[in-house]
Amino acid sequence: MSTTAGSQARTRALPRETPSPLIHHIGLKTQRRAEMLAWYAAATNMEIVMDYPQTVFCSNDGANHRIVFMSSGTEAPDPFHHTGLQHFAFEFPSLEGLLATYARLKAVGSLPEIAVDHGPTTSFYYADPDGNEVELQYDNFGDWGRSKEWMTTSPEFAANLVGTWVDPDAMIVAWEGGASAEELHRRAYAGEFPPIRRPNLRLPPEVEVEHLLRLGYRDGNIPPGHLPAR
Ligand SMILES: [Fe+2]
Repeated sequence: MSTTAGSQARTRALPRETPSPLIHHIGLKTQRRAEMLAWYAAATNMEIVMDYPQTVFCSNDGANHRIVFMSSGTEAPDPFHHTGLQHFAFEFPSLEGLLATYARLKAVGSLPEIAVDHGPTTSFYYADPDGNEVELQYDNFGDWGRSKEWMTTSPEFAANLVGTWVDPDAMIVAWEGGASAEELHRRAYAGEFPPIRRPNLRLPPEVEVEHLLRLGYRDGNIPPGHLPAR
């Protein structure tokens, strides 16, 4: 019998369904290599795994890399056209870890542009040194199954996909006072920690206020100044 690829008998078939892939790593082009490495180290404990002149592999767990930074080493225009990245997220295993990271980044001058309790997650959105939007989040349920169930069945979430804007510093004060993660989420979601500055939605000024009102800011309750000023 012929054994050429075209006529070989099939002894098995590929499965129709496979396990879901999880986010493993991201690649970022940068011209601010040192700043980017320092920021991701401060924000996510990212350490260098392999360091080449124009390519740096970093990881914060057992994976061989979670972020690869690529730089041409010049300020020459990017030869690759792309639409850019909107945002990507890192999830912390505890609210305490997220708040501690907020405090650590604040100490080096990095504040979130947006801080919100979405319901399923408490999320702080930062601009990294290249301007990429990075969401640092904690799952408010501490359990992906419960979180997903609430997100898909809760009338509150269906009515308000954004959630409640928060002031991370006020949340830290409450945490320092002994509030549990569950209590902090409940109070934050109820509006007990309103922000003192408006989130930076990266919108033109002429449409920003209208957009904020649509996203749940009450008229007359829009704080001046961005979070942070950019
Ligand atoms: Fe996100």
